[in-house]
Amino acid sequence: MTAPEVVRSRLAEDLARARERSRSLTECVDDADLVAQHSPLMSPLVWDLAHIGNQEELWLVRDVGGRDPVRGDIDELYDAFRHPRSTRPTLPLLNPAQARSYVAEVRGKVWDVLDRSALRGRPLEQDGFVFAMIAQHEQQHDETMLATHQLRSGPPVLTAPAAPGARTVPAREVIVPAGTFEMGTSTDPAALDNERPAHRVTLPAFAIDAAPVTNGQYVEFVADGGYRRPELWSDRGWAHRMSAGLEAPQFWVRADRDDWAHRVFGVTRPLQLRRPVVHVCFFEAQAYARWAGRRLPTEAEWERAARWDPVTGRSRRFPWGDADPTETRANLGQRHLEPAEVGAYPDGASPLGVHQLIGDVWEWTSSDFLPYPGFAAFPYREYSDVFYGGDYKVLRGGSFGTDQVACRGTFRNWDHPVRRQIFAGFRCARDLAPGEGDV
Ligand code: AVJ
Ligand code: FE
Repeated sequence: MTAPEVVRSRLAEDLARARERSRSLTECVDDADLVAQHSPLMSPLVWDLAHIGNQEELWLVRDVGGRDPVRGDIDELYDAFRHPRSTRPTLPLLNPAQARSYVAEVRGKVWDVLDRSALRGRPLEQDGFVFAMIAQHEQQHDETMLATHQLRSGPPVLTAPAAPGARTVPAREVIVPAGTFEMGTSTDPAALDNERPAHRVTLPAFAIDAAPVTNGQYVEFVADGGYRRPELWSDRGWAHRMSAGLEAPQFWVRADRDDWAHRVFGVTRPLQLRRPVVHVCFFEAQAYARWAGRRLPTEAEWERAARWDPVTGRSRRFPWGDADPTETRANLGQRHLEPAEVGAYPDGASPLGVHQLIGDVWEWTSSDFLPYPGFAAFPYREYSDVFYGGDYKVLRGGSFGTDQVACRGTFRNWDHPVRRQIFAGFRCARDLAPGEGDV
């Protein structure tokens, strides 16, 4: 049990860090850019900003604080279910100055609500859950805004130091023995509803790549005709590859025949061969895996590789243990604008030697987004429940653009299998030959 004052100051830090990030992502471009639609897949940045404030108002000011609405008239405009992203620019949205003062006014009240909350009693406030939920919500939209930045054209406006280079050479793959482990959590105070409850899962032995697939590996798949061989793709994947005209990951540009460059936040530079591939859809990941004689891991396999401690048999919060991420454990929090080289985070490896499960790139799994046994929607159905069973695949692990408040070994992300603008890559897995897993 952590003392309430420690929890309170940590929540304040998480909220402040999220706001600083939202501020920096929306102050580096002008007003015309903030209201523009950079892609039909994305909202104008100014919509994300006011939506962040509106969710914070609904949950923290009105519900927890029991206060009068700050803006009772705009809920509908910022309800993600009422208006698809492509139509948001046509709405009578708050302009950039109004959006900024709205989020500031809401936050001013929230500091007071946070001071007064007992951080227990109601399930919503227990251990500060709803404050952590709102910090995560803002950071999730910050990552979405970062993806919008990657889609916008024009000269670069974001800068960050290069992500670290390799410090070690991970093995090619790691064998995870057959057995039972605890998946999900019932105790992490920040865990969202879809991560709950903890439950036991039994898996046969399998092998999983010790690191995400790199641009260097992926370029071989491209050069070997990966995008021209229907037998490597699922039927749906091939139909999509044809109709969308896919020939390489998004943002790759051909410099020469088999020589590629990529555009990263407005800068075009030679393909970084030792960094994980990013901006591939699920179908591309699946085709690569088949080409490599492998398959994508299931969500349960990913989580067992990331959390299971072979010595104690318990499941950890992170591959390295229960302690928070640090700069030497994982590439998170937009400290860098790219994934790090494979082998850059030996301190973040799992006990079995699986590297970079947390941070760098979201990792596609082969699993559909479904509830765990015993799931209960909390505190609202629209976070997870309404997406279960839809056309979504689960992604795990977080990217360089994910904040640590929204990332842990149990965290579940999901998206349509055709999506590429998210910071997603993958690693492969395989079944073992008979006898291979016996130790
Ligand atoms: C969990 C990342 C799929 O951005 O659609 C933000 C998170 N939910 N606001 C999304 C979310 C409500 C969600 N993902
Ligand atoms: Fe949202």
